[in-house]
Amino acid sequence: MDKSVEFSYEELAQATDNFSMANKIGQGGFGSVYYAELRGEKAAIKKMDMQASKEFFAELKVLTHVHHLNLVRLIGYCVEGSLFLVYEYIENGNLNQHLHGSGRDPLSWSARLQIALDSARGLDYIHKHTVPVYMHRDIKPANILIDKNFRGKVADFGLTKLTVGGSSLPTRIVGTFAYMPPEYVIYGDVSPKLDVYAFGVVLYELISAKDAIVKINGSSGETQGLVALFENVLNEPDPREELCKLIDPRLEDNYPLDSVLKMAQLARACTYENPQLRPSMRSIVVALMNLSSSTDDRDVGSFYENQALVNLMSGR
Ligand SMILES: Nc1ncnc2c1ncn2[C@@H]1O[C@H](COP(=O)(O)OP(=O)(O)OP(=O)(O)O)[C@@H](O)[C@H]1O
Ligand SMILES: [Mg+2]
Repeated sequence: MDKSVEFSYEELAQATDNFSMANKIGQGGFGSVYYAELRGEKAAIKKMDMQASKEFFAELKVLTHVHHLNLVRLIGYCVEGSLFLVYEYIENGNLNQHLHGSGRDPLSWSARLQIALDSARGLDYIHKHTVPVYMHRDIKPANILIDKNFRGKVADFGLTKLTVGGSSLPTRIVGTFAYMPPEYVIYGDVSPKLDVYAFGVVLYELISAKDAIVKINGSSGETQGLVALFENVLNEPDPREELCKLIDPRLEDNYPLDSVLKMAQLARACTYENPQLRPSMRSIVVALMNLSSSTDDRDVGSFYENQALVNLMSGR
């Protein structure tokens, strides 16, 4: 691909078979997403029914220069008629589909841990390496894409700027309700701890494969957030037994309970009501790295099922 990041409408239309239904791969709050073959590479093109303001237009150029393994890369854009954003294509769907969708194998515990760590690294990069500090503001499983090696990549970074007009002052609420911390819902307060909260909810979803807001058993349409559900359990002196009941049944017995408990405790810290008590994305990365290095060898997944491989690894 050449260095130009601005595409013509004609080129994008050609790459998506005129934005045909057959090429449509997703629909979200901001617009529709199409599969494209562009200059010999696979791409995903997001078509948004809005015009980019001058400020956002300038920002797009900046965003095309943000490169990180755990962030979906913005390759370029087009501003003819609608606004089009061209992203690298990620092969394996989004985390929402893996957790809640049918027709896919369940993610193993170590895959979940890896995806958590990958997304945390992506977010940490956004918080650390952008000036002024960017926040994602729409962290949720649909915005975590899974590549062919089951690694996680954070999508849609920078997009909420479109709906808040680039202002940092309290404005219209953007994002998805179940992932929003109280200080944002009540006062419109915005800080990186907003993403930390949403990330905590995602961790609870990785553990339970439940939606962020769940129906309470038997009652008429009453709902409870995952945050409250897990907090009740984690407040008990020994939460292990109750915690087991919240773990995704598709994991069967293939998880180390200690590791799950630690991830749940981390999620709890991320979702503390007081934003100042929530850890930074950096400390979350460190916590998840420790967790994954202490979990690997005890993961009871396919590794131990294959005795031949175990023998090979231990030199027998
Ligand atoms: N770069 C990409 N590669 C592959 N699939 C993608 C890519 N970007 C988006 N998708 C797919 O398209 C879907 C819709 O994306 P979109 O961002 O419009 O909506 P969303 O993520 O569900 O919600 P939101 O509008 O809040 O981001 C995604 O969930 C994902 O499955
Ligand atoms: Mg999205």
